[in-house]
Amino acid sequence: MKKVIGIAGSPRRNGNSERALDSMLKGVEMAGGCIEKIVIRDINVSPCNSCGGCHVNGICVIDDDMQKMYPKLIEADGIIVASPLYFMGVSAQLKTFIDRFQSFWSRKYLLNQPIREGGIMSRGYFIATAARSGSEELFIGAIKTIKAFFHVSDTKYTGDLLFSGLEEKDALINTKPELLQQAFTAGKQFFSVIK
Ligand SMILES: Cc1cc2nc3c(=O)[nH]c(=O)nc-3n(C[C@H](O)[C@H](O)[C@H](O)COP(=O)(O)O)c2cc1C
Repeated sequence: MKKVIGIAGSPRRNGNSERALDSMLKGVEMAGGCIEKIVIRDINVSPCNSCGGCHVNGICVIDDDMQKMYPKLIEADGIIVASPLYFMGVSAQLKTFIDRFQSFWSRKYLLNQPIREGGIMSRGYFIATAARSGSEELFIGAIKTIKAFFHVSDTKYTGDLLFSGLEEKDALINTKPELLQQAFTAGKQFFSVIK
């Protein structure tokens, strides 16, 4: 069964981005996919300290929960990343997680090894929520980070949901519940391109 990993990047549990992620994952499940959610604030992730340890064999030398995350990401057929917009970028917690994929960069560009056997590409999707009102322009910084993350993970950027005007924790469910339906539908569509 095809597997989709959802990465909840907000430190605020059950806030706007996580609720949108949950709806999208439900859509994936409804379409027949197997899902798993990683909540970044609940795992122990140290920042990359640029030690160069991964230059040797593409493996990060820091011994923390990321060692369990790498195989999950490699095995996933689809990856959905959700983040609040923080100072025009992704949350610090998510950025810390992403920076640890410098070991994938070493694997690809220093050691010329594919991330997945046979060079298989995964599919990626981005969900972002922000307090300010605005269009895609508001999310450009965060999108660039996610695109770089997907690129280094051999993951094709397949689409995004960019929800603005959501400040309070329950703003999405209280003021724009129709966006949850949009996320659910996006989940079903996302899985249809993975199958
Ligand atoms: C540290 C911090 C930085 C933020 N920076 C921005 C920002 O640059 N632009 C914006 O529109 N909203 C910003 N916000 C608001 C959040 O992006 C918004 O409330 C979002 O919906 C939160 O998602 P969550 O409920 O999943 O955590 C910021 C919030 C915090 C706590």
